[in-house]
Amino acid sequence: MLPTPVSMDITEFRKRGKEMVDYIADYFEQLEERQVYPDVEPGYLRPLIPDSAPQEPESFEDVLKDVERIIMPGVTHWHSPYFFAYFPTASSFPALLADVLSGGIGCIGFSWASSPACTELETVMLDWLGKMINLPEEFLAGKDGEGGGVIQGSASEATLITLLAARTKTIRRVQSENPELTAADIMSKLVAYASDQAHSSVERAGLIGGVKIKNIPSDDKFTVCGSALKKVLHEDRAAGLIPFFFCATLGTTPCCSFDRLLELGPICNKENIWMHIDAAYAGSAFICPEFRHLLNGVEHVKLSHEFENLVLQDKRFEICAEVTLGLVCFRLKGSNELNEALLKSINEARKIHLVPCHLREKFVLRFAICSRTVESVHIQFAWKHISELATELLNA
Ligand SMILES: Cc1ncc(COP(=O)(O)O)c(C=O)c1O
Repeated sequence: MLPTPVSMDITEFRKRGKEMVDYIADYFEQLEERQVYPDVEPGYLRPLIPDSAPQEPESFEDVLKDVERIIMPGVTHWHSPYFFAYFPTASSFPALLADVLSGGIGCIGFSWASSPACTELETVMLDWLGKMINLPEEFLAGKDGEGGGVIQGSASEATLITLLAARTKTIRRVQSENPELTAADIMSKLVAYASDQAHSSVERAGLIGGVKIKNIPSDDKFTVCGSALKKVLHEDRAAGLIPFFFCATLGTTPCCSFDRLLELGPICNKENIWMHIDAAYAGSAFICPEFRHLLNGVEHVKLSHEFENLVLQDKRFEICAEVTLGLVCFRLKGSNELNEALLKSINEARKIHLVPCHLREKFVLRFAICSRTVESVHIQFAWKHISELATELLNA
């Protein structure tokens, strides 16, 4: 027989809610002392928790103890000022409180009627965002609701949705001009494009969407320019293919390069190609200067130049791509094996955390300013640490 469930009543919820806020505040206050990258091995968690959901309830105190004992040792602390891997992820105190509120309201906004405030707030706030990044008027919903945006769960999802929308739009257009063609005939000829530096989610969108996807070669600044796209379009049209989608990237994952929209946009327009812009990381930087003070993170740029200067002063290292926002791509002058060994020793020391990328044939270390608590002192610490490990490696 199952035990009578013990649920948290409203009195306890008030008490525990306040304790949870304190727990999170303590977490942030002491985050710098936690090791940024965990020491655990794959499969560490399973032996520490029951095989199936417990029959007996536990006290809130015990649950929180388990968080410290079992969960925290396996957490990579993305908001640590020593986390320089991947890209920054959003976190702010107002956003945390908003998450609590939306969890409390707990509605599902799948249509206007299912919760009018959901749809209306989303529409208005996406207009705010559109205005902040200076999008043309037709991208905004405004009062007549002509344009407008919707929030997707991730950048990958946004690319997939737009690719599918572009696919449908193109199939309809081509069928209206050639009624004898089936959707399958057209699908087999559709081709989508993205930079050879685009995120893997673009290729995945092509696979899920059942269309060909081709890389456009980027130039020596890892940027796609108009002539590179034109060349491929010309070849593909001649081969009977139907170009329908181009994913431009503003802020590529490996090195934060920017495709040349001013050249690419008019080509896509002329060629009837849907241009999607993946600005997963760099999008927020397009907020107009007068709004910049509202942005958490853009000041992440000054610190990246500080790190870049430290790298440039050390003749053993090289910078591998232009530093525009908060990402510095750098490496030891020398072989890929040497740089792989440097990254290994950095991550094994667990003092800071970095991930690599490949730029053409080079193995490169990415130093991304991620946490909003990073200050110059953390940059100096990280560089001193990296250069000492490099010295050890080169003297070994
Ligand atoms: C340029 C770019 N696009 C897409 C993604 C994938 O983002 P998401 O995890 O939100 O799908 C990333 C992740 O780093 C990225 O850098």
